[in-house]
Amino acid sequence: MSKEELKRAAAAQALAYVENGMQLGLGTGSTAKHFVELLGERVRDGLRVIGVPTSEVTRADAERCGVPLTTLDEIDHLDLTVDGADEIDPSLNLIKGGGGALLREKIVAAASARMVVISDDSKWVDTLGRFPLPVEVIPFGLGATRHALAAAFAQAGVGGEISLRQGKDGHAFVTDGGHWIVDAHLGRIPDPPRLASLLSAIPGVVEHGLFIGLAKTVILAGSQGLRIVDR
Ligand code: A5P
Repeated sequence: MSKEELKRAAAAQALAYVENGMQLGLGTGSTAKHFVELLGERVRDGLRVIGVPTSEVTRADAERCGVPLTTLDEIDHLDLTVDGADEIDPSLNLIKGGGGALLREKIVAAASARMVVISDDSKWVDTLGRFPLPVEVIPFGLGATRHALAAAFAQAGVGGEISLRQGKDGHAFVTDGGHWIVDAHLGRIPDPPRLASLLSAIPGVVEHGLFIGLAKTVILAGSQGLRIVDR
């Protein structure tokens, strides 16, 4: 099976968690896109659900697939969010934000009774950190924020380069919220909850890509088939 087929298989399995009448968070990324497409097929067959997209890209995909949408202003909780991840550890802590949607993804996941993560099994790791950790920052005062980030990494016993993410136009990548992203190349994050607290305390940090205690279920697709891990 190709990687895309594995992602689609994980996405198809996530449909088993969807019930008629549910309010759904719709993740962002290539794996979540498969879920939105498959969900659209079910909606065309008569399934009644409403979704909150985690990015403008997912909004466009959901509209194209005929999935009805709402916002977290109109409803205040979600039954289920299905999203991808960049790394997943055995405690089901995640690194997310490779696609730059981490802020809305975290707001949506936190508003959900259940978060199901869908992935091919290459994202499963013993220790988070090989994937650069995305941190969404306010452009104002970036130098000071980078300095505070380096101090937080040192305090957490991790170290590495911090780079400002570039967009396709060669300028800083701008998130849906109008912020920038720095990617922290840490290699290994031995204590993700501790690093998450340190990062959240920095004023210029809007949000970071460590998702701690949010995922309840992970569906991993590999060459041997599907593996479902619950927390
Ligand atoms: C988007 O900001 C990310 O959090 C994605 O959910 C994550 O990068 C997984 O994306 P893929 O499914 O494309 O690997």
